Amino acid sequence: MKALVAYYSESGNTEKLAKAIYGGIDVPKKEIMPISEAISKDYDVIFVGFPVQASSVPAKVEGFIKSIPEGKKLAFFVTHGSLRGGQLAISALYYAFSLALKPSVIGTFGCRGQVKPGLIDALLKNPEHKAWAMEAQSAAGHPDKSDLEDGKEFANLMIAKARNM
Ligand SMILES: Cc1cc2nc3c(=O)[nH]c(=O)nc-3n(C[C@H](O)[C@H](O)[C@H](O)COP(=O)(O)O)c2cc1C
Repeated sequence: MKALVAYYSESGNTEKLAKAIYGGIDVPKKEIMPISEAISKDYDVIFVGFPVQASSVPAKVEGFIKSIPEGKKLAFFVTHGSLRGGQLAISALYYAFSLALKPSVIGTFGCRGQVKPGLIDALLKNPEHKAWAMEAQSAAGHPDKSDLEDGKEFANLMIAKARNM
């Protein structure tokens, strides 16, 4: 079994989580790289990570998800400013699901990621971003140690699940 962690990250939060997930993958062959460099066809299990943007999937990540061939096992992970488990973040995961070939998604994980200082004030004035920006005010410091531990455990469980399929 060969595993890939492919991520997109603008301010480093998703990259931190990607590294924790990579650390939790217990297979002899594994690689981690930005989505811009990733080619999915060589792997059996692919972890795809991205920041939630405008309650959705960043355009660069959409193309990658769509390009993943049939027969791969996919696990999505996201960071987001809004509350963990909230509808604003979950809608992005639903959309990611809709881009992938259906039976291939074996799990998802999300945690909060702080928004760049100064940005929240500007976003609160923008109707498109106001809802999540209000929630994002308490995301400072995330992903924290506990988020990264959870991410690592998620990776471990996904590999166990993929082995048993
Ligand atoms: C342009 C932009 C749009 C965003 N939209 C959302 C959103 O709709 N919902 C949300 O919860 N967080 C949103 N965020 C916050 C990011 O998802 C969050 O800070 C994430 O951890 C950033 O990850 P990164 O450092 O890997 O880029 C947005 C951030 C930016 C810069």
